[in-house]
Amino acid sequence: MTRQFFVGGNFKMNPITRKDKLALVKVLNDAELDPAVEVVVSPPALYLIPLAESIRKDIKIAAQNCYFKDSGAFTGEISPAQLVDAQIPYVILGHSERRTLFHETSEEVAQKTSAALAKGLSIILCIGETLHEREAGETGKVCQSQLKAVVDVLKKAIGGDSSYPKIVIAYEPVWAIGTGKVATPQQAQEAHADIRSFLSKAVSSAVADSTRIIYGGSVNGGNCKELSTLPDVDGFLVGGASLKPEFVQIVNSKK
Ligand code: G3H
Repeated sequence: MTRQFFVGGNFKMNPITRKDKLALVKVLNDAELDPAVEVVVSPPALYLIPLAESIRKDIKIAAQNCYFKDSGAFTGEISPAQLVDAQIPYVILGHSERRTLFHETSEEVAQKTSAALAKGLSIILCIGETLHEREAGETGKVCQSQLKAVVDVLKKAIGGDSSYPKIVIAYEPVWAIGTGKVATPQQAQEAHADIRSFLSKAVSSAVADSTRIIYGGSVNGGNCKELSTLPDVDGFLVGGASLKPEFVQIVNSKK
């Protein structure tokens, strides 16, 4: 099964000025990007619409979070329906910064995933273990339990397994995020193969074969090439380096 390579840029709460944003857009708009790669960038909510309007049309936009309700008294939240109305096709859910800093549980992430899928959004679903969990030999168990919450909710949802083509799973070991300490190719391949094997047992071998599993955590222009050759690594979710011109190199890592 050929899975389209996927590179996402998660700008997190950056860049902080309009000038920075414009410079980044110019780099991407002027770049020669591998047309075989699906590229998605995710700015802070404030910049979703202006970025969608100014960036080249072959780059898609993702929100960094959304709520599970359509509307109502939920100060500070954005709904899946509002993202669809704004023509934003993707949303990142379950990022470890949301799980740790904002105490989102796997059940809440699953509820948001189901609500976003029901509105037609595509999801970048983040999972991954902390350093403590890796050292305790719990990487597989943690990733599976984070993923199982979504699998369980989707089993009961309208559409069920047919939703999986709209989900990209981002394996992001928490200890590799923003630390400069990238997973070794062996660590990344092992974790991705394990996630795929879980999908095969918990959902189906067809879903396991076709679902893209991307790696995130200190990916940069120097380490992307080797990681991109791993059989179960279908792309990257990039934080820090997505704010720099080297993002272009990461998009083109298969070239
Ligand atoms: O969403 C992206 C990840 O958190 C990776 O961030 O590339 O800065 O380590 P990073």
